[in-house]
Amino acid sequence: MTIPSVDLTPRIGSELKLDKAALLSGEHADDIRALLVARGALVARGLFLSDEELRTVARTLGDLRIGASKRGTDGKTLNEGEEGVLKVSLDPKVNPDYARFLPGNHLWHMDGTYEEIPPFATLFTPYRLSEQGGDTMFASTYAAFEDLPADEQARLETLRVVHSMQAALFPVMRDCTPEEFAVWYSYPQRSHPLVWQHKSGRKSLVLSTSAAYVEGMHPAESHDLLERLMIHATQDKYVYRHKWQLGDLAMWDNTGAMHRAMPFEANSKREFHRCTLNGEEPVTAPERMAEAAA
Ligand SMILES: [Fe+2]
Repeated sequence: MTIPSVDLTPRIGSELKLDKAALLSGEHADDIRALLVARGALVARGLFLSDEELRTVARTLGDLRIGASKRGTDGKTLNEGEEGVLKVSLDPKVNPDYARFLPGNHLWHMDGTYEEIPPFATLFTPYRLSEQGGDTMFASTYAAFEDLPADEQARLETLRVVHSMQAALFPVMRDCTPEEFAVWYSYPQRSHPLVWQHKSGRKSLVLSTSAAYVEGMHPAESHDLLERLMIHATQDKYVYRHKWQLGDLAMWDNTGAMHRAMPFEANSKREFHRCTLNGEEPVTAPERMAEAAA
């Protein structure tokens, strides 16, 4: 890597030592992308990016997602931002859906597991911080897979997992209305391989609170396996916890890391602005899966 950076933990997270002008120029975009995939999450301090600048940086790194792309828990559109910047806030005038999504955001997840091609990356910057809590945590699903014993890796590479909105939200939203529950069911369930063989050749675990069950496995065994893998993948050695300061920019590789928001005070004025980069490859099964099926 030719760009200046400092590792924040051994397995995930680096701080970019670039100023705003260097980021906006796009001059280092290829190196930043490579570092993002290698390190799972990147942060930079003291930038204070406007929405326009956030978009500009995002566009240097990938295909910026524009316009509505998701539905909220009430079935309405959760707008990714007509101009590519989504405001994340409990204030219903700023974001009418976030308050109802928030409980799910506190659990470890990947974004877009209901999509055939999950988003590649997210850029996130604070406009107002919570008074307490509100850290964001990142866990490397590359590192978690790489550390498993070879025989277990081989077995996991033959499995597929179904992801669903109700699996993600019902455990933390038991007070949902029948209408909300019906909306979750209206989302497409999506089956993904449990292990993603990326175009780069690296492999990662596809884990998320949205993981409902392992296809073809007894429900109890499936539950235990997914729970054990989640506990394995979120050990401290695979995790970077970011304590936010105004002016920060964080970005994470959604294809090789999970994330979660830590709790903060109710009715917080906390507000973040976010850009999402569209995915570039479907979740692809390792060759071993086809061999096992043959
Ligand atoms: Fe998320």
